[in-house]
Amino acid sequence: MTDATGMRSVFDLPPEIPFYRLAPLYDFIYRHEFDYDRQAERVRAVASAAGVLELACGTGRLAARLADEEYVGVDAATPMLEIARRNVGARFVRADARQVAFDRSFGAVAMLGRSSAHFGVEDLRSVADVAREHLDDGGGFVLDAHDRATLEDGYSSDDRYETDRWTVRYRGESTTTGGGWCTHEYRVDVRDRTRELSSTFEGSYEMRFWSTAEIREVLGGAGFGTFRVETENGRIDATALLS
Ligand SMILES: C[S@@+](CC[C@H](N)C(=O)[O-])C[C@H]1O[C@@H](n2cnc3c(N)ncnc32)[C@H](O)[C@@H]1O
Repeated sequence: MTDATGMRSVFDLPPEIPFYRLAPLYDFIYRHEFDYDRQAERVRAVASAAGVLELACGTGRLAARLADEEYVGVDAATPMLEIARRNVGARFVRADARQVAFDRSFGAVAMLGRSSAHFGVEDLRSVADVAREHLDDGGGFVLDAHDRATLEDGYSSDDRYETDRWTVRYRGESTTTGGGWCTHEYRVDVRDRTRELSSTFEGSYEMRFWSTAEIREVLGGAGFGTFRVETENGRIDATALLS
């Protein structure tokens, strides 16, 4: 996307996905979900030079492991970035991962935590282009995705998370809609037992599950010469190198 001067603009912001207004709950619910130490190792392993650019960085959980390495995080959701800024001493920018532009390159680019679920094929191609354009020679792009092979035709979940003070009940209902997409409806009930307060949040968003062939096609199409695409526990882990 270009602005009036013909320059690509970093100020074209995507609409926020309302679910991520629940940023404090996101961390609470998903706090055990991903092994970010391992993900940070994957990022370091492909870095050809200083600097890590993370696209769709969320609340900064990967950033917390990489903040010393000239880290820059990008996300569309202000509430997620507010938590990231509070928790991690690094640079965070609100921008669209599909078109953000920096005037420097990085040794590695990452998009993890299955953020790719929010992107269609054209969108993920744009993200892969952004990654390639910002990588130093020999640098690497680390990406993960929901594995389409594990997509069930409609599934529901009902999970409860508790601390001494909080009870959070998360109910999810996903309906497949074709082409790897599903609609995920959620209802989150939160109870603060110390103050006897409770709230309910409801909504829905679209999620895309990916096949390994599609991930290879997107990475190859963006000009990555070498890539590894593996599946584990419903997740696709991909690493692509500019060589
Ligand atoms: C599943 S969360 C993952 C966050 C983080 N990577 C993690 O591992 O915790 C997906 C993130 O993608 C962000 N996002 C969605 N669409 C985006 C876009 N077009 N540009 C930048 N961020 C986006 C959301 O705001 C959200 O923080």
